[in-house]
Amino acid sequence: MRVLVIGDLHAPAVHKDYLAFCKKVARMYDTNKTVFIGDIIDHEAISRHEKNPDLPAARDEFNMALKVVKKWHSAFPEAYVCIGNHDERVLRRAKSEGIPSLYLKPFNEVYGTSGWVWANEHIIDKILYTHGTNWSGKSPAFNAACYLRRSVVCGHCHSIASIAHHNNGEDTIFGMNVGAGVDANHLALSYGRYSLKKPVFSCGVVKDGHPYLEIK
Ligand SMILES: [Fe+2]
Repeated sequence: MRVLVIGDLHAPAVHKDYLAFCKKVARMYDTNKTVFIGDIIDHEAISRHEKNPDLPAARDEFNMALKVVKKWHSAFPEAYVCIGNHDERVLRRAKSEGIPSLYLKPFNEVYGTSGWVWANEHIIDKILYTHGTNWSGKSPAFNAACYLRRSVVCGHCHSIASIAHHNNGEDTIFGMNVGAGVDANHLALSYGRYSLKKPVFSCGVVKDGHPYLEIK
């Protein structure tokens, strides 16, 4: 099993070179499974944060994001997608306004991504792949791996691309944070302009149960 793990995209705020980079890594490792680690869509326009008037409105943002998603879908037509906190923004907004979920469309219908399996987490070869919503610290995936006593791959913290292992005398597990594919200079990500921690342009691979990071 050779799994390509694609970092946070935040469409339409994904870096213009990230798709070519991930395709190259997929070829290098001859991957036969693909996992998107989450935050496929940014949904800045419907967030509850202060709005930047220079950013597009919700419908325009959706159209821009859809174009990006179509490119990724044609490159990776079969994939497991971890639902990220940004992907969930529509659901959270609807919930807080009292709208029952039956009025909402499934992700595949909204984005035309047949062949993608959207879920909060996926387990492949006993390894947990999940977005890592609300996880923080220096090594979120490693911390989760130790708590869960199983290997974990996550995204969410764009500035962390790391692998750490733990051996308890019986077995060895790992935690891998895969970095991200976001464009740090995009206006939608301008909230991070003063941060000392910038996104690491990277993706991950799990090959025969072992983690690898490819960093640009
Ligand atoms: Fe993210």
